[in-house]
Amino acid sequence: MITADRLRSMAEPESGDVSAAIYTDEEVYRRELDAIFRKSWLFVGHESQLPKAGDFFTSYMAEDSIVVTRNRAGELSAFLNVCRHRGMKICRAELGNTRAFQCTYHGWSYGLDGELKAVPHQEAYGPGSRARGVGRDPCCACGVV
Ligand code: FES
Repeated sequence: MITADRLRSMAEPESGDVSAAIYTDEEVYRRELDAIFRKSWLFVGHESQLPKAGDFFTSYMAEDSIVVTRNRAGELSAFLNVCRHRGMKICRAELGNTRAFQCTYHGWSYGLDGELKAVPHQEAYGPGSRARGVGRDPCCACGVV
């Protein structure tokens, strides 16, 4: 864990001088992730970036890739850019317009709200498989689905 003395050595509040090390120090980065990025609302984009139904862009919440979309009803959604099957990214583009997202690994497809819509060869998966339940898969306590 980074010490207060080490942090003070990287920044001088009176003069405003900041050591370049503060931008590359692994401990400072981890502390920022825990103290700020995993505990606060994060700005990921503005609705004006998605003027049309089907528009999407990808962004990051700390180290987690997310997809932000506008659905056919004009509603905005944000969800983790991860396939609920084996964790592959479901969207590799930075932005665009689409009707759905399809994982390139085994073909599971997701709606513009991140809901699992279809699983090819669903019968091949076991009874306890996530392939059996279509729908949204909440990622964590932050409420992003
Ligand atoms: S990892 Fe996405 S369908 Fe298998």
